[in-house]
Amino acid sequence: MKTIEYVVENPLGIHARPAALIAQACTGFKSEITISTDEKTASGANVLEILSLNAAKGTNLTISASGVDEEEAVEKIVEVFSAVEPKEKKADILKIAFFGTKSYDRIFFSELSKDHGVGTYNVDLKYFSSRLTEETAMLAQGFDAVCIFVNDEAPRAVIEKLHECGVRLILLRCAGFNNVDLDAAKEYGMTVLRVPAYSPYAVAEHAMTLITSANRRIHKAYNKVGNNDFALNGLLGVDLHNKVAGIMGTGRIGVCMARICKGYGMTVLGWDAFPNKKLEEDGLLTYVSKEELLQRADLISLHAPLIMGEGGTYHLIDENAISLMKDGVMLVNTSRGGLVDVEALIANLKKDKFHAVALDVYEGEDQNVYTDHSEDMLDNDITARLTMFPNLILTSHQAFFTREALQAIAAVTLENAKNFNEGLPYGPAEVK
Ligand SMILES: NC(=O)c1ccc[n+]([C@@H]2O[C@H](COP(=O)([O-])OP(=O)(O)OC[C@H]3O[C@@H](n4cnc5c(N)ncnc54)[C@H](O)[C@@H]3O)[C@@H](O)[C@H]2O)c1
Repeated sequence: MKTIEYVVENPLGIHARPAALIAQACTGFKSEITISTDEKTASGANVLEILSLNAAKGTNLTISASGVDEEEAVEKIVEVFSAVEPKEKKADILKIAFFGTKSYDRIFFSELSKDHGVGTYNVDLKYFSSRLTEETAMLAQGFDAVCIFVNDEAPRAVIEKLHECGVRLILLRCAGFNNVDLDAAKEYGMTVLRVPAYSPYAVAEHAMTLITSANRRIHKAYNKVGNNDFALNGLLGVDLHNKVAGIMGTGRIGVCMARICKGYGMTVLGWDAFPNKKLEEDGLLTYVSKEELLQRADLISLHAPLIMGEGGTYHLIDENAISLMKDGVMLVNTSRGGLVDVEALIANLKKDKFHAVALDVYEGEDQNVYTDHSEDMLDNDITARLTMFPNLILTSHQAFFTREALQAIAAVTLENAKNFNEGLPYGPAEVK
């Protein structure tokens, strides 16, 4: 175990921003990291626990790390502490209209946006429960920025309205940006910033959870046992060991999924418009053509972004792609619904083409995601048709939904807001 003492020098104490940056840094280490005052101990990876230390200037902290990278972990934390001294220039408070708010959004955003002044995030958040649409855009009147999620809509007509309202910045609290008309945003001089990476593990772990659940019919088994039905009929799965996984899109999430598949004893194939040769050199996967991957894979997992037009990924999985796949293939999509032609998928589910299908996203999800329709008349029959297949499991765009991911999303979004407000560089957060 590596332990050091550290006296808080920051005149504001450990306020939200340093706490968020420390928690972000700690999640990158294997070691268990704790930060203690005389009275309390916080997990270094948990921003809310760090804030609850109430460490003012002059507080004596004990920072401990235990694990393979304990030396680097402790060094990194001290480095982060020193880097967040409030030396940045003064800026006005940035007013942000937060659309599509859910209770879980507030857990981290509210805590992290509390402080004002030099060195803090210096934002005022106004939460709206409505999604951003053409009808709700005028709620942004008088705000500098809007903060939106995957199910908000920012086509040209909405961008025009936001511009009329005085909005200069779109903060995406997600990685994908397919819901924003970037040409229109550029035309109206609006900056678009996103969270390029939060927890790729959250999404990849959900992808494997879903497809293994569909493979072993866990969703069926759970209900059967609850009904006193302990027969195994209809629950037959297949081993993943020694099977072939095909990862389409080998970026941050695809790589995590490839590692998980490797851990199951699978051979991993990759396909990507921009192959990363290092992954082959490291022995993680072998790149093949799209056709070869479709033909050889027993489990296909989609991790490319949704890109329209030529060379894009819209309907990457269509009738033709499905026809190349093995009978009894498994397909999982945690990327974007538009990657799979849902009508072709349903037609082939009917023909018993797939052993298992797992979808966290699907075409037609837009009116459903994050809302309770349990009292409504059936409107979206795509969902109804999909959920009737016994070998298909559906979740509603929740792959990102872990504590670590929410914490990182809030921290990076508010850092983006701060950078905009103070004219600092955006790095990979900027979408052009
Ligand atoms: N379900 C969820 O909750 C959730 C959460 C986060 C991200 N996502 C989705 O996952 C996707 C992947 O995220 P990531 O962080 O791994 O992104 P990433 O940018 O790290 O990786 C994307 C990969 O796709 C490749 N690619 C880009 N354009 C392509 C094209 N036209 N054809 C083939 N490959 C192409 C890139 O080269 C890259 O390797 C996101 O775009 C997003 O849509 C979903």
